Amino acid sequence: MRSVRWNPDGPVVEMIDQRLLPGEFKVISFSTHEQVADAITQMVIRGAPAIGAAAAYGLALAAMNSSANETPHLIDELSAAASTLREARPTASNLNWALERLLRKANSLLSTKPDEIRNLMLQEAQRLADEDVEINKKMGIFGATLLPQSSRVIHHCNTGSLATVDYGTALGVIRTAHESGKTIHVLVDETRPRLQGARLTAWELDQYGIPFEIITDNAAGSFLATGNIDAVLVGADRVAANGDVANKIGTYMLALAAKDNDVPFYSIVPTSTIDLDAASGADIPIEERDPSEVLDLMKAGRPIAPSDSRARNPAFDITPYRLITAIVTEVGILRPPFENSLREAIEKAQSK
Ligand code: MRU
Repeated sequence: MRSVRWNPDGPVVEMIDQRLLPGEFKVISFSTHEQVADAITQMVIRGAPAIGAAAAYGLALAAMNSSANETPHLIDELSAAASTLREARPTASNLNWALERLLRKANSLLSTKPDEIRNLMLQEAQRLADEDVEINKKMGIFGATLLPQSSRVIHHCNTGSLATVDYGTALGVIRTAHESGKTIHVLVDETRPRLQGARLTAWELDQYGIPFEIITDNAAGSFLATGNIDAVLVGADRVAANGDVANKIGTYMLALAAKDNDVPFYSIVPTSTIDLDAASGADIPIEERDPSEVLDLMKAGRPIAPSDSRARNPAFDITPYRLITAIVTEVGILRPPFENSLREAIEKAQSK
């Protein structure tokens, strides 16, 4: 099933609880936008495109739940709900992008009756979610051309069906290559501290029948130095105008090791992840999460450090554009200089 979907009985937004995988597959329902915002913060759902779609459905819920009889009043309530959803996580561009898309729609409907706006908000959220799947498949086709017929790749975090509405970004490229008959072997970075690689990417690859081995994040450099790795594939939470990429913590070290060993490093992103208002990575807000995620892995109640230890837990880092070989989007493969190719990609996407 999709990572997030609308269920008209309720109505509710349903999400796979990604905190429980791979041990338990459980779907949770949310009936208010505040609950959806909390689910994003708590990482019931995670991954930039997935939280964008979840926020869009959250805003549709806010529209359904509003008792406003007048359109301006409804739009004010939607703006307030969007602020709550926007604050759920700071780094992913897609969250704000999705909310702005729905708010733009609402603001274009000032002469429309509130009930009609409620329906149109839901329709727009559904459209956004459906488009996300199509976009991933297009990126998969472009990205798969970059991989040799027989490839060994390193993948960081989880960028698959779970991180998107369905299919995936970097994992989508791996899936397309596999589905088109290429022989792909994936070294899966475990991705400390929340283990999105070991828990979620491995769970997905297992279902797709794609061979993989899990490695510790610390082992990636050593594997890259062997000369047996054809590419490093990652997603991104936000791409700045100069091509700097914010992605899961550890991506920067991976890119450094790839560069030192002449291994191509690809970031696969929908254009909704590109933020031309951020001139460089320095303008991208980096989420710092609770130290308990570092001190007590998966908050399992089994601390791995002395009880009075302090920890730092930045959830993302910035990979400078100079370490990135290409950025794959739904409108094509972008090469340096990224300040030109990113701008052209946005224009191309908007003209479709
Ligand atoms: O903290 P997370 O699990 O939400 O981080 C997710 C990532 O870093 C992904 O690589 C990114 O969102 C791109 S996935 C489509």
